[in-house]
Amino acid sequence: MDNYRYLIDFDTDKIRKEYYDIIIIGSGIAGVYTALELPEKYNIVIITKETIDISNSVLAQGGIAVSLDKEDSPELHFKDTIYAGAGLCDENSVWVLVNEAAKNIEALCKYGVNFDKKENKDELSLTREGAHSKNRIIHAGDTTGKEVCDKLISIVKARKNVKIKERTFAIDILTDNDVCKGVLSYDEDCDQYIYYVSSVVINAAGGFGQLYLNTTNPEVATGDGVSLAYRAGAELMDMEFVQFHPTVLFHPENKSFLISEAVRGEGAILRNVFGERFMPKYHELNELAPRDIVSRAIFSEMKKTESDHVYLDITFKDKNYLESRFPNIYKKCLNYGIDISKDYIPVAPAEHYCMGGVKTDVFGRTNIKGFFACGEVACSGIHGANRLASNSLLEGLVFGRKIGEEVSKILAENISLDTSFHLSYKKNRIKKQIDKKRIKTDIQNLMTKYVGIIRNREGMIIAKNKIDQYYSVICDMYNTSIEDFEIQNMVLLARIVIEAALEREESRGAHYRTDFQSTDDINWKRNIIKVIQKK
Ligand code: SIN
Repeated sequence: MDNYRYLIDFDTDKIRKEYYDIIIIGSGIAGVYTALELPEKYNIVIITKETIDISNSVLAQGGIAVSLDKEDSPELHFKDTIYAGAGLCDENSVWVLVNEAAKNIEALCKYGVNFDKKENKDELSLTREGAHSKNRIIHAGDTTGKEVCDKLISIVKARKNVKIKERTFAIDILTDNDVCKGVLSYDEDCDQYIYYVSSVVINAAGGFGQLYLNTTNPEVATGDGVSLAYRAGAELMDMEFVQFHPTVLFHPENKSFLISEAVRGEGAILRNVFGERFMPKYHELNELAPRDIVSRAIFSEMKKTESDHVYLDITFKDKNYLESRFPNIYKKCLNYGIDISKDYIPVAPAEHYCMGGVKTDVFGRTNIKGFFACGEVACSGIHGANRLASNSLLEGLVFGRKIGEEVSKILAENISLDTSFHLSYKKNRIKKQIDKKRIKTDIQNLMTKYVGIIRNREGMIIAKNKIDQYYSVICDMYNTSIEDFEIQNMVLLARIVIEAALEREESRGAHYRTDFQSTDDINWKRNIIKVIQKK
C-alpha cells in the first residue's frame, strides 16, 4: 500500500464502534434493493453521505430494460448490450443480467412499484431507447428512478433489522491482509468518527460524475466508493470509459437536467442550430444509435456550427400526450420558458455514467474478502466500453440480488464476528489552507476539456501534469471535513481515469482518441486493471 492508505489517523480502540452483520455504503437502488434482498435475521446498517433519497438512481428518468414483449428475448437484449459495449463486455455477466431481469422486475412489482401499463391495463408499457432493437424499456412516466427508489426506501425504512445512518461519510474500509474488517466513517451530525465493524461490506456508493463540469449526477457523486476501494487494494477496471449522455438541457440556469433518451425513443429528432437534422449522416440507427455515437455526432455538429448546443425536436407530438408521457420534462422545460410541444429543446452532451469501477464477479465479489460492490461503483463487465441505455437500474437489481444470495451463504457458514481486530494508523500530516472549491472546478474543467468526449495524448498530459501537482499538494494534508475527503477522492480518481485513458491507445466506445482513431482489437480487446502498488 502507498503512504496514505487511510485518509485520517485513527486508533480503533479509541473511536466509537458499532457492530453489524452487514454494512451497505450508499442508498441508491443497488444499496436499498440489496438490503431488502438480505434475510431479515441479519443486522444491517446503510451508511449514506446525504439523506437516503439523494442518489443518482432517484434521478433516473427513462426506465429499466427487460425483454417482456413476445417479439423480444433475453438473447436479443444480450445482443444489443454486447453491440453497444463495443467488444469489451463480459459475456457471462451480460447473460446473468438479461436472464435474471424479468424476475427482479416481478419483485419490484410485488414491492408495489407502479410502472406504466399498456391500454389493456395488464401488461407493462414498453418503450425504446438508443441501440435497443426492440421496445423493452419499462417506465413510470419520466421519473422511473424516483418511483422505484421511493417505494424501496419506504419498505426498507420499515424493516426493523435495517438501520439507516444519513449524513455519514464512508471514509475508508479497514482491511487486514486483504480481508475486510468494516468501515471507518465520519458522522456529520455528531461530528464524530465511527468504526462500523463487520466482516461484510457492500459498496454501493455510486459513480464519479462530479469529476466533470456538466453532469446529470447529483453533487454527492464524487467517487468516494471507488476511491476507498482503490486505497484498500481493490482492483479497478475500465476506468477510462466515461459515458456522456447526448441530450442534457442546455440552459444558462441549468446544464444538468436530463432530457431522457425515451424522448428520442418516442420519435424526437436532433437538429443543429440551423434546424437541420444530422443523425442520418452519422449512423443507420439515426437518433437511436448507441450513446457514444450520438454524443460524438452532436459534438461534431456543435463544432461545425460553432455553437455550444444543438436542439431536440418533439414538437410534432401532441401537447396532451407530452404532458402525460413526460410530465417532469414538460414542466421543467416550461419553467425555463421552453414549451416542448412548440419549441425545440436546447441540449448538449454531459457526463452521465461511469462504465468502470471496482472489479467484481457476478456475485459482486471483489479481490478483498468480504468486500462486495454493486451498481455504478462496480464493474462486472456488463457495460463494456459503452453502457446500453436503461441497463443501469437493472444492474443494481440483478447484482444486488446475487450479492444477497452470496452474503447469506457466507453468513450462514460463519456468523461469528472478529471483534478482536485492532488497528492504529498515524501519518505525519500537515494542516494546510487550500482552496478546495478552486481545485474542484479546475479538475472539472481539465477533465471536461481534455478527458471528455474527445481525447488525445497532448491534452491528457496537460490534465495529468496539473492534477499530479494537486496530488502532491494534498496527499499529506490533514483531513478533517467531508470537503477534504471529497477532494482527496476526486484528485485520486482523476489521476486514475487519465492514466487508463492514456494507456488505451485506440478508440473504442466512449473512449475516443483523435491520435488513435481506430479500434484495435489485436492489442486492446482487453480490460485495463488499476490496482494500488503495495510497498
Ligand atoms: C435516460 O432516461 O435517457 C437515461 C437512461 C439511462 O441512462 O439508462
